[in-house]
Amino acid sequence: MTNTTATSRTAPALGGNAGMSSEYLEVRNLSVSFDGFKAVDNVDLTLMQGDLRFLIGPNGAGKTTLVDAITGLVPATGSITKSGEQLLGKKVHKIARLGVGRTFQTASVFEELTVLQNLDIAAGAGRSAWELLRTRKSVLPEIEESLETIGLEALRDTPAGILAHGQKQWLEIGMLLVQNCSVLLLDEPVAGMSLEEREETGNLLRRIGGARTVVVVEHDMDFMRAFATSVTVLAAGKVLAEGTVAQVQADPKVQAVYLGTAAAAPVGQE
Ligand SMILES: Nc1ncnc2c1ncn2[C@@H]1O[C@H](COP(=O)(O)OP(=O)(O)OP(=O)(O)O)[C@@H](O)[C@H]1O
Ligand SMILES: [Mg+2]
Repeated sequence: MTNTTATSRTAPALGGNAGMSSEYLEVRNLSVSFDGFKAVDNVDLTLMQGDLRFLIGPNGAGKTTLVDAITGLVPATGSITKSGEQLLGKKVHKIARLGVGRTFQTASVFEELTVLQNLDIAAGAGRSAWELLRTRKSVLPEIEESLETIGLEALRDTPAGILAHGQKQWLEIGMLLVQNCSVLLLDEPVAGMSLEEREETGNLLRRIGGARTVVVVEHDMDFMRAFATSVTVLAAGKVLAEGTVAQVQADPKVQAVYLGTAAAAPVGQE
């Protein structure tokens, strides 16, 4: 990589590249308080289908808490609708069933089970007790498709515990795909990955992103520059800025609070 400025790449389109305008996830006046401390403070966020939105900001900005609130893990006030349906107040599994899935900062696959078994369990999340009792004779088409998408076909019978770090993250993404998630919230998916794994992950996110909405919480600014279609900057629980990579990088408020010298730093020196 010699030039990583957003303007030199295929132009990232704000609100997604898929050319679709259906509103997918709409967050309004969202707040989360912990004992009076507002970790998320009146956040508005509109995510479209096809968007590959990066959510960035300093440690403690409220990024993970925002994802927790959207997925029902912490109580919040305000409104979160997916294609018009209110998610706020719904239980975690209900929200997941409505197609909103997330990964955690630390990988959470079943280490002793194979890649295929992990995907099978994830696919079973939406099945009835009766369906779960019936053993599957063949691999479900959606699992085959997911295996291909995440590039782990050859490792289908490998225990997840011995997968490389990057492959575990891809398996987790595959588990969201077989659950039919249309909104994927990924918390620092490339942390600890090699450069090659990052590139592969970015390409994977592009492959799955077109028909879905993908939100990536990240501190890796090179990764953001390479793959974001739009960026939201959180600081102290509030939305500080939003726009294309070029717009947020040029924003003096963002530079002061987060990017600082990182925006101008040569590759690999952030
Ligand atoms: N369960 C909790 N109880 C009390 N305070 C919390 C809780 N979870 C998070 N916080 C606080 O809320 C704020 C936001 O935390 P959060 O984990 O959302 O930040 P973040 O943007 O994800 O940071 P990082 O980049 O370090 O992952 C922090 O000040 C944190 O200490
Ligand atoms: Mg976090």
